[in-house]
Amino acid sequence: MSLDGRTAMASGESQWITGPAARADVQSLRARSSAIITGAETVMTDNARLTVRAEQLPLSPELCELALSRPPLRIVIDGRLRVPTDLAFFTAGPVLVVTYQTPPENTAVIEYIQVPELNGHVDLSVLLGRLAQRGINELMVEAGPQLAGAFIQAGLVDELYIYMAAMLLGSSAQPLMQLPIELMADAVRLQILDMRALANDWRIIARPLAADV
Ligand SMILES: NC(=O)c1ccc[n+]([C@@H]2O[C@H](COP(=O)([O-])OP(=O)(O)OC[C@H]3O[C@@H](n4cnc5c(N)ncnc54)[C@H](OP(=O)(O)O)[C@@H]3O)[C@@H](O)[C@H]2O)c1
Repeated sequence: MSLDGRTAMASGESQWITGPAARADVQSLRARSSAIITGAETVMTDNARLTVRAEQLPLSPELCELALSRPPLRIVIDGRLRVPTDLAFFTAGPVLVVTYQTPPENTAVIEYIQVPELNGHVDLSVLLGRLAQRGINELMVEAGPQLAGAFIQAGLVDELYIYMAAMLLGSSAQPLMQLPIELMADAVRLQILDMRALANDWRIIARPLAADV
């Protein structure tokens, strides 16, 4: 995000806000995750692949090889099955598509799972239970404001990694999260666990505090 907490222009354009050092750090996070989860709009707007890329991984050749031999499962939440499956996300390797609709047959690279609907979207708590049953115990959500806000609102986030660039994107740009809060009393309070510079950017690791803390 920018220093004023914006993650994309109103048009959806968002590449690039942070620099190569921050993006390499994101690559390490992807590599250590069991799975990466994103949303339909991010896959369509950014043509995002969310793969681990050897040339960007800040690791020794041995660790790089190990990471690439065990890539994270890439997951897209596509409740209404509206994302075209010829996009780069699908052609870059095996993926899991999560929907609340009756899914089509699996293909060689696309596995579909059906999860109950909650308020017009996939029920995220049920989804995380299903993923845990598959042994996914470190899940990285890399998404835009809607899905990021939905995970926070559902209380399903253990840690936030925020990469902050020294730029202002202005008030027409999109926020970090869609989180409609009216009262100060309802603010999501965080504990900052770590904050450090990555070249010209900052990385903040924070943990949501329980509502009554
Ligand atoms: N700066 C960054 O790091 C960064 C990272 C990623 C994306 N972006 C930008 O973010 C923009 C896209 O963001 P976005 O938020 O519109 O798209 P998104 O991250 O793809 O989120 C939309 C997805 O979230 C799902 N969703 C929304 N509310 C939900 C809920 N309550 N429960 C469960 N699922 C829910 C939607 O489900 P349905 O399928 O049911 O509609 C949809 O699949 C793009 O402009 C992209 O460039 C920026």
